[in-house]
Amino acid sequence: MTLRRIGRCVSPGHGGTFSRWLPEKKGCAPEPRAALMGMSLLPADTGIARAMLRVADLDRALAFYRDVLGFEVSRDERNTVTLRDLLVLEERPGIARRPPRPITTGLYHVALLVPDRRALGRALLGLRQAGYPLRGMSDHAVSESLYLDDPDGNGLEIYADRPRSEWPVRDGVVQMTVDPMDVAGVVAAGRERPEPWRGLPRETVIGHLHFTVSQMEPALAFYRDVIGFDVMMRIPSLVAVSAGGYHHHLNLNSWAGDDAPADFEEVAGLSGWELRVPDESLRRALRERIQRAGALGTDSGGVIAHDPDAVAVKIIGPG
Ligand SMILES: [Fe+2]
Repeated sequence: MTLRRIGRCVSPGHGGTFSRWLPEKKGCAPEPRAALMGMSLLPADTGIARAMLRVADLDRALAFYRDVLGFEVSRDERNTVTLRDLLVLEERPGIARRPPRPITTGLYHVALLVPDRRALGRALLGLRQAGYPLRGMSDHAVSESLYLDDPDGNGLEIYADRPRSEWPVRDGVVQMTVDPMDVAGVVAAGRERPEPWRGLPRETVIGHLHFTVSQMEPALAFYRDVIGFDVMMRIPSLVAVSAGGYHHHLNLNSWAGDDAPADFEEVAGLSGWELRVPDESLRRALRERIQRAGALGTDSGGVIAHDPDAVAVKIIGPG
């Protein structure tokens, strides 16, 4: 089989934020992908399980996550609240709000995937009803997204995928855009069956995470070669990786500049996340890769790896 390569696809409109990050340049071809060779290092049903967020005040955070987004509290410990086994909020009194633009490594956003466009429309209407501000709305061709911050400035995306059969693919590469969202269409979908807003549906999962990294190459080497994701899209300051042909499970950006300072514990942000790898033999192989890379840490609950920017990822089995 002939392998194609993703070139260093330069997007003319790109300037620090992803105004447009479509690889439109001629000769832009995919990197060799293990998946094309039937050699995926991760199973197709790999996914993000939970994300742990630092917040300054649990009551304030719950007024948003529980009362606006509708996440039920599934576990309530002393300084930690778990919401639907998706988000874990860790109270750190006195920490600062996360800045709106990346100035350190770490969290850019946690992306909550709702089942369909109707659910996205209902979320938009529910947020409007609550008077909660959005930072933006975009059409990414593969999905439609709302962007907002939690009360601590932790970035959130709420999005709905288009059916996979509709994702634009060119030269074997899924094409993602940043275009204005059809707000009227999304709202109309949300109003199809008017019901009182009770929050994001139970089927909501974390579809992807987006980090700022200090150096792209080591970060990419870790997530591609050690964790085992496939590279789905690459431009100089942004790389998308995934398992199972998904458009992206992780976005890595270098928007805080090369050698960006490390994330601060004293600022809101992401303190860790979980990667669900259901297949036991592939999970065992992943642990060995992490160990060989010298990135292995463990706790009583399983394997924890640290990426080059010290973000902790815990590898877990089927939920
Ligand atoms: Fe995102």
